[in-house]
Amino acid sequence: MRQGAARRFLVGNWKMHGLRADMACAQEIDRCAAELPQVSIGLAPPVTLLLPLAERLRHVRVGGQACHAMDDGAYTGGISARMLTDGGGDFVILGHSEQRAQHCYGDEQVRAQALAAQAAGLDVILCVGEGAGEREAGRALPVVVGQVLQGCPNDAGSLLIAYEPVWAIGSGDVPAGAQIEEMHGAIRCCLKERFGEAGRAVPILYGGSVSESNAAQLLGLTAVDGLLVGAASLSPVRFCAIARAAAYA
Ligand code: PGA
Repeated sequence: MRQGAARRFLVGNWKMHGLRADMACAQEIDRCAAELPQVSIGLAPPVTLLLPLAERLRHVRVGGQACHAMDDGAYTGGISARMLTDGGGDFVILGHSEQRAQHCYGDEQVRAQALAAQAAGLDVILCVGEGAGEREAGRALPVVVGQVLQGCPNDAGSLLIAYEPVWAIGSGDVPAGAQIEEMHGAIRCCLKERFGEAGRAVPILYGGSVSESNAAQLLGLTAVDGLLVGAASLSPVRFCAIARAAAYA
């Protein structure tokens, strides 16, 4: 995701959606990406589509939605970072709130996965974000800062952060611009504290109910370097509209 001179980053997270019949959607997105070289576009399909999409797409990078911290072993159902690389993956999304909730992952496990991913040559998109209760209790900032400081792997050069408030995912609710700016600013401070100068260049994406209607506004925020998109990435028409917004923001 981080190679090249792209100014903006756009990643579609297909979650548990997508059969071979849906590869045409990804190819449509690839055609749109060919016209927008100023945007680095990635898709994270289910793992069954990783290799076929890596073989077909020319302008869109493909990646995983999770990976195991171990390289191999007796971990039924597990997919290692090396397997993602072997399957044509370029990046992996780690610490997504759905993964954290389903597998009770804490920051320590997320960091172990991120270290394995970087060792395997993958870029890491580290997801962080507070729950509704944490925001209501006034704890959003310390929660997110803790996730960044404890979950970050060692290499800033192959790292991206996605701020995804849990309450904004799939809900249609998006934080106010000022709330996003405040959080991205706090994340940037953490990155500088952790990595020094290299922390300035780590892209910080926003995710949670991103759509073709709010993309331009979100990308207009100075602290937003890109977007992580769930539901709207399943429709090439919607996702390409977001990609165009990213290209011209
Ligand atoms: P959403 O999901 O765009 O459907 O809210 C975002 C995500 O979970 O990454």
